[in-house]
Amino acid sequence: MTKARVAKTKVSNECRQTDSPYLPETVTVERVESISACEKLFRLKREARRARKAAPAHAPGQFYMVGLPGYGEAPISVCAPSATGSDIELCIRVAGNLTGALHRLGPGDTLSLRGPFGDGFDTTALKGRDIIFIAGGIGIAPMRSLLLAVLNGRKAYGELKLLYGAKSPEEVLFTGDFKVWKKKGLSVDVIVDSGTEGWNGRVGLVTDLMGPVKLNALQTTAVVIGPPIMYRFVVAKLKRMGMAESDILLSLERRMKCGVGKCGHCQINSSYVCQDGPVYTLESLEGMGEAFK
Ligand SMILES: Cc1cc2nc3c(=O)[nH]c(=O)nc-3n(C[C@H](O)[C@H](O)[C@H](O)COP(=O)(O)OP(=O)(O)OC[C@H]3O[C@@H](n4cnc5c(N)ncnc54)[C@H](O)[C@@H]3O)c2cc1C
Ligand code: FES
Repeated sequence: MTKARVAKTKVSNECRQTDSPYLPETVTVERVESISACEKLFRLKREARRARKAAPAHAPGQFYMVGLPGYGEAPISVCAPSATGSDIELCIRVAGNLTGALHRLGPGDTLSLRGPFGDGFDTTALKGRDIIFIAGGIGIAPMRSLLLAVLNGRKAYGELKLLYGAKSPEEVLFTGDFKVWKKKGLSVDVIVDSGTEGWNGRVGLVTDLMGPVKLNALQTTAVVIGPPIMYRFVVAKLKRMGMAESDILLSLERRMKCGVGKCGHCQINSSYVCQDGPVYTLESLEGMGEAFK
């Protein structure tokens, strides 16, 4: 055996011993639910053996690299909190090859998972604050993980508002959760770009929902998750409302490959979104205009 091959074998054994972040685990689909024409909610279960080994619990805002042999891997955010890390909820929009194949899975099928990765939301730092959550499109999926975490400890937070914009009434996700969220003290305002027959709600952009909002800028943290185009307009409006850049949190989407800060696919200036993000304060994105593209 050549020296190079000996070295390679040694590395791969080390990987196994240290639970390398490159080595996926196999998880089982426990439940799949269509929640719109393009989105499915997956409930995944880690193997009992793995769960017993105390799989890492994820924080709101973190993501997993989800894969299928022959189709590749993609980052998908957690959409519900987990105390133990043994059960995972993901909301996946069909976008291309991999997500299309994931949508064909049913209960009992398996997929590969690496993570959780990234720096999520610090719920402790949000305690005592009023929070305005502003979500656009599929951004409501990662937002839901934070909403549920905050509502689970409702008394620790101040006033809570959700402003949520979707393209059409059919694309408004998690409507089944709204009643419980409102009961727990979250005000929920929804707007759609274009209404269809039977829609009695607001029509327009999510920024239209911001107009009537009265907030105490010093006491409030804004959390914004949505498409990059939304960020520019929402952020400009929040600043006009007197919000400091350090109190505006954004979750960024970037193309990712490794998920662990090695390949550079997700790099913006000197920051690796997969490690330093995806959650950033607006203040920390100073000089990173590319972040909104
Ligand atoms: C941190 C993070 C969290 C994410 N969370 C979720 C989630 O919770 N649910 C969800 O459905 N999707 C999420 N995404 C997006 C998801 O990763 C992509 O939709 C997925 O990679 C598409 O893979 P595919 O092979 O099916 O499609 P591809 O064939 O790779 O792409 C299909 C289309 O989607 C676009 N696309 C692919 N990846 C991205 C990306 N990262 N950003 C913007 N556009 C992209 C492509 O340009 C193309 O137009 C997240 C992405 C990131 C970076
Ligand atoms: S995805 Fe490879 S460095 Fe971030």
